[in-house]
Amino acid sequence: MNTGQQPSPPDIAQAGSRSPVPPAGTHGHAPLAVTVVGASGDLATRKIFPALFALHARGLLPAETRLFGFARRPWSDDDFRRHLTPGLKCEELAADVCDLRQRDFLPRCHFVPGDYDSADSFRDLQRRLEAACGSPVHHLVYFAIPPTLFGRVAQAMRAAGIVTDGESPWTRVVVEKPFGTDRRSSDELTRLLGGCFREEQTYRIDHYLGKEVIQNLMVLRFANTIFEPLWNRRHIHHVHIAWSEDIPLAGRAGYFEGTGIIRDVMQNHLTQILALVAMECPWQLDARHVRDEKVRLLRQVVPLTRERTVLGQYVAGRLQGEPVAGYREEPGVAPDSCTATYAAAVFDVRSPRWRGVPFLVSAAKGTGTRHTEIRIHFRAPDNDLFHALLAKGAAGQGLLRGNELVIRVQPDEQILMRVVSKVPGSGFQLDTAALDLSYREAYAGTRIGDAYENLILDVLRGDRSLFIRNDELEAAWDLFTPLLMELDTCRQTPHPYPFGTPGPEARRELAARYAIEDA
Ligand SMILES: NC(=O)c1ccc[n+]([C@@H]2O[C@H](COP(=O)([O-])OP(=O)(O)OC[C@H]3O[C@@H](n4cnc5c(N)ncnc54)[C@H](OP(=O)(O)O)[C@@H]3O)[C@@H](O)[C@H]2O)c1
Repeated sequence: MNTGQQPSPPDIAQAGSRSPVPPAGTHGHAPLAVTVVGASGDLATRKIFPALFALHARGLLPAETRLFGFARRPWSDDDFRRHLTPGLKCEELAADVCDLRQRDFLPRCHFVPGDYDSADSFRDLQRRLEAACGSPVHHLVYFAIPPTLFGRVAQAMRAAGIVTDGESPWTRVVVEKPFGTDRRSSDELTRLLGGCFREEQTYRIDHYLGKEVIQNLMVLRFANTIFEPLWNRRHIHHVHIAWSEDIPLAGRAGYFEGTGIIRDVMQNHLTQILALVAMECPWQLDARHVRDEKVRLLRQVVPLTRERTVLGQYVAGRLQGEPVAGYREEPGVAPDSCTATYAAAVFDVRSPRWRGVPFLVSAAKGTGTRHTEIRIHFRAPDNDLFHALLAKGAAGQGLLRGNELVIRVQPDEQILMRVVSKVPGSGFQLDTAALDLSYREAYAGTRIGDAYENLILDVLRGDRSLFIRNDELEAAWDLFTPLLMELDTCRQTPHPYPFGTPGPEARRELAARYAIEDA
């Protein structure tokens, strides 16, 4: 039963002791200030402040925490608090308790209007911050602004003296994707930020890495003995990492039109998942060793080419029976747009462990389902004992596909292993059944927090394992940049597919070239 009493807030070094990695460079006794630059925007309103509130409501932020929103619009503190209030939810607490938490949280939120490239505006912020928190203060700065502003904001903050370089008190800066649009622009962004912040204080966030199931990937692989011996080319036929979304772009088409599905989802979230699935076991469970292994793996992947890729764009279709306009009919989209809303690519991972195993990665908007999952498809047995029965399949439904490990990231966290099994009864028929670890049942009563909550806690603890290092970013862009440059110049029309369907038919041809049946 929840008593409504708030647990005593920890100091920063203890904040959310959920990770096995010890905190680095924390100092428990200075107050904490969190500044969200671009606080009026969608990300700040929908994700960052709700996550900060959820942490506060669970007693995971230090007692002396103050939060500052910075943006151009001339809001007062009260305007800002009114703006934030509808997003502050605490689903596991009773309404009166949630109300208490809100009343404690909102007075800690302040708004500082200013210009993004003005050192004076950030001096203003510094004055407000010192008045509220005193000095010294640990300072988490969150860039929730378009990347075109990163350089100017970083320079203005530096010039205002708001950034400290030391370990205690610290300044840590969280930056959101997109980190550039190709290798060159990403390098330029790294250079601009690097002129103002040390790499060690820069936290490039990919919120997929904060999702529970993604964090469980390393545990699944390296804390169990049953998977690792099979995790290689001898036993695995192919890997499919699939992401799909079932809603139209509605309102976000302006942003998406200049981005496309590869830059929006594949180059970052799905490439990170690929690295975690395919990398070798890190020597130690710390940021350096985990990221070293991810980079080593990404460097062994061959950059994508057109031959290994299929692009699609949704046309008019249906969503839950209702008609939906095609992508080119969305407001803000050119009538002859070549922007891909679907991409499937087969990656060639040239490591000794994976040579010859196709990694199919697909990302699709406007399909009938919303999910992110990793499917590890195992090879058929070497013996012919059940060949005929496997080919016959269950109740004459065709070929049984054999063992498959499905790691479902969203919407419902789940890990399941499909095994071939005899259907009970007097006949001898085979079927596939699932050994099912469904988080909802296995961890009933355990709250699964939003990825942003997990990642913000990690920043407070100085744990960078789940953030993207600059060389990791370079390696990820190197996989996509040649293809993206070619696509940007040739304006090839993507294959059409009706909204509400899994993607263009061409995806099947691509998959079939690699003997993959579940594209
Ligand atoms: N929204 C998400 O769920 C999400 C998810 C992942 C990554 N991101 C990334 O995170 C960043 C912020 O996302 P967002 O959706 O919150 O963006 P946003 O709403 O478009 O922008 C955030 C704030 O930045 C200011 N701003 C926007 N465009 C500007 C411009 N051209 N010049 C000067 N100021 C501008 C606006 O504040 P004022 O006008 O009040 O100054 C706006 O409220 C973006 O890089 C986005 O790609 C967003």
